Amino acid sequence: MSNDLKCHVFICTKCSSTKERERGGELCEAQALRNSTKKKSKEIWGKSVRINKSGCLGKCDEGIACVLYPSQVWLTGLTDEGTNEVITAIEQALKA
Ligand code: FES
Repeated sequence: MSNDLKCHVFICTKCSSTKERERGGELCEAQALRNSTKKKSKEIWGKSVRINKSGCLGKCDEGIACVLYPSQVWLTGLTDEGTNEVITAIEQALKA
C-alpha cells in the first residue's frame, strides 16, 4: 500500500454483469453498495481509503461479502443499505 493508503476495502460484485443484464441495466445490490460506500468514504477519508470491486471472495452463501485490508476484517450478509456498516468497520480498523 502507498503511504497515503490506510485501508483497502474489497466488495464482491461478481453478481454485477449478470444481475445488471437481468435487471435491464439497474445496478445489483453489491454494486450499489460499493458505489455508495466509495462515495461516502471519499467524502470522509479522501484517498487514504480505497473501495474496490472484487470477484468472488469465497463467501457466496453469506450474502454480499466485503473484506478490509490490512486489518483482514470480514463483513458478510450486507445489503445495498450496508454502507454505514462498512464505514463503521473502516473507522474501527483505522483506530486499531
Ligand atoms: S460471488 Fe461473491 S463471495 Fe463468491
